Amino acid sequence: MAMRKTPRRTKKADKKSSLGKRIIAVVGATGAQGGGLVRAILNDKNGPFTARAITRKVDSDKAKALADAGAEVVAADLDDVKSLKQAFEGAHGVFCVTNFWEHFKPEKEISQARNMAQAAKDAGVKHVIWSTLEDTRKSIPLSDDRMPTLMGKYKVPHFDAKGEADSIFTELGVPTTFLVTSFYWENFIYFGMGPKKGADGKLAITLPMGNRKLPTIAAEDIGKTAYAIFERGEEMIGKTVGIAGGHLTGAQMAKSLSKALGQQVNYNAVPHATFRSLGFPGAEDLGNMFQFNTEFEQDCCDARNISETKSLNPELQTFDRWLAENKSKIPLG
Ligand SMILES: NC(=O)c1ccc[n+]([C@@H]2O[C@H](COP(=O)([O-])OP(=O)(O)OC[C@H]3O[C@@H](n4cnc5c(N)ncnc54)[C@H](OP(=O)(O)O)[C@@H]3O)[C@@H](O)[C@H]2O)c1
Repeated sequence: MAMRKTPRRTKKADKKSSLGKRIIAVVGATGAQGGGLVRAILNDKNGPFTARAITRKVDSDKAKALADAGAEVVAADLDDVKSLKQAFEGAHGVFCVTNFWEHFKPEKEISQARNMAQAAKDAGVKHVIWSTLEDTRKSIPLSDDRMPTLMGKYKVPHFDAKGEADSIFTELGVPTTFLVTSFYWENFIYFGMGPKKGADGKLAITLPMGNRKLPTIAAEDIGKTAYAIFERGEEMIGKTVGIAGGHLTGAQMAKSLSKALGQQVNYNAVPHATFRSLGFPGAEDLGNMFQFNTEFEQDCCDARNISETKSLNPELQTFDRWLAENKSKIPLG
């Protein structure tokens, strides 16, 4: 399908519309979450939806691949509400996600969420999914010094900003499902969290989770589950849906990694403060996030029910199944 900088329909999109398909505009279509949703839409050839992939870079290889696979590719920038409104025009549904790790600025995430909510409202979108996380300050107020306050008014900036932005969708009256996501297993591939060789020459994953369970998921399953939420439609509006493919301890993940990789992977359960001081960009934010996950283990797992996720997405992967498919991509440092 041809790519364009405005959301005019191509012949193919018109054809789909004439077949009665409703458009789902997908923010982050070239990324993990949105990409999974675009693929879920395109894979369901007889399904009710067609995919409009939103990107800043319609000429990128990823955008071209989406167009080749049959998506309508439309340019928009989350910092430009006008471009979003144009990109959402005519869409039945919109998937909204922000990328904190591109800029590390919680206020920017909130402003981008506001832009998406306003654009969806102005475009008359019928169903929005907002990919969110907890505002951890509801559990750990800023006055609580068990973990440092970051950037002046956050405990876990990349969680808190998303959680704070929930109310923007509600207050603007946007028909929204709040999708609470989990730690991706892809972090072992792309986020520098894969097994690394220690001074003892043995591989280990380093997570400050003690013996507590972390809600985790295959990134592709986020998009597949979002697809099911759009399919269910009206009944999902106003709901908060937390999703996970596994509630796993560091030791369980290390055991699965050892089995899949055919070599011993240990679990290095460092203290939260040690993780915060590792020095890479975002280490403090992630150290606080893991502390939140550790201290509120039950709440975090209860908020992300695996069997409910599976009832939405029957193809939901386990960590072992994900490893069988993805183990060769894991860099072993
Ligand atoms: N890693 C985890 O374990 C995890 C778990 C839960 C939640 N999250 C959250 O997931 C979010 C990132 O989602 P992801 O992993 O799907 O992202 P990703 O794979 O890194 O891709 C980022 C996507 O966001 C789009 N994007 C970024 N800024 C944009 C802008 N200004 N205008 C338009 N599009 C923009 C990019 O599009 P173009 O570059 O094509 O324009 C790209 O499609 C983060 O906020 C993170 O906190 C991550």
